Amino acid sequence: MTYSEALTQAFDVIRRTIPKMGADRPAIGRSDFKYARCHDSHWVDGFWSGQLWLAYAETGDRTFLEAARAQRPYFIQRLDRPETHDHDLGFLYILSLVADTKLTGDEVACRGALRAADSLAGRYNPRGRFIPAWNWRSESDPNRGRIIIDCMENLNLLFWAAEQTSQTCYRDIAVAHAHTTIDTIVRADGSTYHSYIFDPDTGEPLRGETVQGYADESCWSRGQAWGIHGFAMAYCYTGDEQFRATAVRLAEYALAHLPDDHVPYWDYRLPDDAPHYRDTSAGAITAAGLFLLADVLDDASQADRYRAAACAILDALIAGYALFDHPEAEGLLAQGASHVAEGLADNMLPYGDYFFLEALLRAQGRTAFFW
Ligand code: GLY
Repeated sequence: MTYSEALTQAFDVIRRTIPKMGADRPAIGRSDFKYARCHDSHWVDGFWSGQLWLAYAETGDRTFLEAARAQRPYFIQRLDRPETHDHDLGFLYILSLVADTKLTGDEVACRGALRAADSLAGRYNPRGRFIPAWNWRSESDPNRGRIIIDCMENLNLLFWAAEQTSQTCYRDIAVAHAHTTIDTIVRADGSTYHSYIFDPDTGEPLRGETVQGYADESCWSRGQAWGIHGFAMAYCYTGDEQFRATAVRLAEYALAHLPDDHVPYWDYRLPDDAPHYRDTSAGAITAAGLFLLADVLDDASQADRYRAAACAILDALIAGYALFDHPEAEGLLAQGASHVAEGLADNMLPYGDYFFLEALLRAQGRTAFFW
């Protein structure tokens, strides 16, 4: 199957899922390839909207535009509920209101996305120079001083807001957080901790930990993928050479540890007796990140190597995991691993679907996205 044929099939799945999804959004796949719905206040709420906007941008089909716009009231009203906000405001609002702003110039969407950026910037801890992950119920909750590699993707909301408003404070926070991530989460061998804990009152870095990976000293493959794509985007916004070099180090580690069939397991450092679930979402994000990184490298042969590796991952996802032949499937990719320690593996995942679409579009030479 060509990438163009895969895109056509993906758009068909999304088109037939629109009436089933209604005003709701996909949360996590079930064994019958239907999605459990988000209902409210989920960190994955933006990925369905992101697929709809990508489909509209590529096809011009107003069915996708109308479905994406039908999601807008949800994202606007969530702005008024700060208790539902955390570090994931970037994922939520880049793929909804920023996408709308970029594609249609809509001012309501733009004002909403800037409010989301304000909420994200308001989380910044200047002592530790980081944006804390998740929320906390007490002063002693470690989340007060926790960062996670995933947050690299959320920084794009701040970079976008800085460009939109010409206010450098958004960019300063994003740059500071990215450098803190390099100094703590990124290890010398190019692997990553999922999470790093700081003393939230002094800002002192304390220790690396995992939340969704196999072990504190392992390398959660989706985290590594967030880092490749996230640092490549940070380089695109800033031109800071350290961000590009970090994306390369993370990419090299991932490429050296991918299995021979190119689809990552959920962690790159699994002992033989650990459960070996695939994480197709990590594969899709890695492929999108490698295409993106290849586009900003100076060395043409290195760029070609990254594009070839991204195509190999994409080919393996299409051949072994795409759900195009399932007439009832509400998603695009099987066998994502959301959180293995909580028993959430072998599922369709909305972020796997979104990044599969982004990677297919990047494979076709598209470079305009919403990040
Ligand atoms: N950002 C959460 C995850 O990747 O599961």
